[in-house]
Amino acid sequence: MTAWPIPRVSVLTKALPVAFGLLAVVLLSEPDLADRTRLALQTLLVIIWCVYIVQLIATIRTRPAEEGRGAILIVDLLAVAVPLAAFLVASDPRDVSLACGVWILKPLRDSTAFRLVAKVLANEARNLIGVVSIFGIVLIVAAVIAYFVERDAQPNSFGSIPKAMWWAVVTLSTTGYGDAIPQSLAGRVLAGLVMMCGIGVFALWAGILASGFAEEVRRLDFVNKWQLVSAVPLFAQLGAPELAGIVRALRPRHVPAGAVICRKGETGDQMFFIVEGRVGVAAAAPVELGPGAFFGEMALITGEPRTATVTAASAVTLLSLHSLDFQILLSHNPAIAETIRSTAAERGSAKLGS
Ligand code: CMP
Repeated sequence: MTAWPIPRVSVLTKALPVAFGLLAVVLLSEPDLADRTRLALQTLLVIIWCVYIVQLIATIRTRPAEEGRGAILIVDLLAVAVPLAAFLVASDPRDVSLACGVWILKPLRDSTAFRLVAKVLANEARNLIGVVSIFGIVLIVAAVIAYFVERDAQPNSFGSIPKAMWWAVVTLSTTGYGDAIPQSLAGRVLAGLVMMCGIGVFALWAGILASGFAEEVRRLDFVNKWQLVSAVPLFAQLGAPELAGIVRALRPRHVPAGAVICRKGETGDQMFFIVEGRVGVAAAAPVELGPGAFFGEMALITGEPRTATVTAASAVTLLSLHSLDFQILLSHNPAIAETIRSTAAERGSAKLGS
C-alpha cells in the first residue's frame, strides 16, 4: 500500500478550483466573449464559490486550535465573502467576476514559501522600514530640488512638489518612463544622483531580504535537525551548547528501503546515527540495527576499510557525521567517545570471534 494518493488528491482539489477560477476571471474580462461561453464561465465561478463555502465550513469545524488557523480562516472567509459582497452591491456585473480574483490567496494560505516570506518580512520589519524611510527622504529631497531647478522651464512636469515627486519616484526606482526629463544641467546632475541612490536603496532592500531568508532557512534547518538529534539517545547526555555544536555538524539523510548505505571494503569518511527505520549489517553474523543505534564508526576509528555492507532494511532517516566532526565530537565528549569506542571494539571482536 502506498501513501501518495491522499496528498495528491488534496493538491488537486486545492489547485484545480483556483486555476480554473482565475482562468475564468481572466477570460470573463474579454468584452467579445460569446454569451454561451460567458454563461458557462460564470456557472463555473458559482460552482467554485460553493466549493469554497464547503471548505470554509470544514476549516471552522476541523481546525479548532491549530497554530496559524487565524490566517487560514481569514483567507477562507475572504474567498467566500468578497465575491458575495460584490454580487450584492456591485452595479457592474464585471466586478462580480473580478472579485473572484481574491481566490489567488487560496494557494498562498497553505504555501510554506508564503509563510517563510511572511516570517522574513516580520523578522526584518525594522530594517525594511529603515530602508523605506531612506527611500522616502531621498524622494522628498529630490522632488524639492527638482521643483526648485526645473519649475520655470517645465511647469507641466515640475510646477509643484507633488508633480516633481512623480519624476522622483520614476527616477529613484530606476524605471525611467521618460515622460518628465530635467532640462537644466543642475536637474540632470540631480537625476544622476537620484538614480544612483535608487540603485543603492534597492540593493540594500535586496540584501536585507536575502540575508533574512538565509537566516530563516538556517534556523528552520537547525530546528529540524535538533529534533532529529534529540531522537538519538547517545546525545541525551549532552548539554545544550554541545548539542548545538553536534546539530550543526550532523547532516540528515533519508535512504529508501533496500539502498546500500556503505559497502564492505570501501574507505569510510563518515559514520551514521539511525533516527528512524532499520538497517541490516551483513556481518559474519548478520544483525539489524534500529532507531538510536549507530554504525560506520569502525572505519573512522581504525582508518581501515568498511568491515561490512550496511543496507536500509526499511526507509531510514539517518544523521551522518564526517570524520573531522567525529574526531571533534570524541575529543570534546569523553563519555560519548567511550560508548562509541567500546561498541566498535565489541563489534570488532565479534568479527574476529566468528
Ligand atoms: P564500518 O566498518 O565503518 O562500516 C560497516 C559498519 O557495520 C561497521 O563500521 C560497524 O558500525 C557495523 N558493524 C560491523 N560489524 C557489526 C556487528 N557485528 N554488529 C553490529 N554492527 C556491525
